[in-house]
Amino acid sequence: PRSIWLSRHGESEFNLEGKIGGDANLSERGERYAKLLPELVKRSGLPKDAPLTIWTSTLKRTSQTAQHLQKELGWEKLQWKALDELDSGVCDGMTYQEIAEKYPEDFQARDDDKYNYRYRGGESYRDVVIRLEPIIMELERSENIIIITHQAIVRCIFAYFMEIPQEKSPWMEVPLHTLMKLTPKAYGTEVERFKADI
Ligand code: F6P
Repeated sequence: PRSIWLSRHGESEFNLEGKIGGDANLSERGERYAKLLPELVKRSGLPKDAPLTIWTSTLKRTSQTAQHLQKELGWEKLQWKALDELDSGVCDGMTYQEIAEKYPEDFQARDDDKYNYRYRGGESYRDVVIRLEPIIMELERSENIIIITHQAIVRCIFAYFMEIPQEKSPWMEVPLHTLMKLTPKAYGTEVERFKADI
């Protein structure tokens, strides 16, 4: 059965500062994840004789995370705007603390209904699920894809393949520096996790 490999990008400078969105570079630790990824992917078990194709977002942190897979393994990389992180609109670049202070009602509204809450000038999880539809369709008819994307996007793709209701995806834990391998089986999708030791 064919598998899909899925990961968040390595830790970024913004992750370190607790800022959301943006287009920051990887931190040193994030760089270490990028360097370890070829080994981690090999350890996960690759299809015989077939390279994977790398799908990233258009943001620097996902491309940087993919760079050693490209260089060391010679895999091809494709960038998708549809894989960019949930657009946090006017809150882009802020910390959750700053959002709570500047937009207290929005902060509360998001907590009350995180799936439907749409950032001012930005997106909701519901919006993201809709813009991911073409990606999911393309994934369903492709083989040997590794996706390196962002927290909210990983949640929605994961929920889709695990048949978890999308309303639950905004609250799912997706740790950094952990590669997931999803393999469809007769009884449902099997998940294997490979954590980088960094
Ligand atoms: O903090 C990392 C991040 O990817 C942000 O860029 C993004 O806004 C956020 O996570 C999404 O997670 P949540 O929906 O839980 O705020």
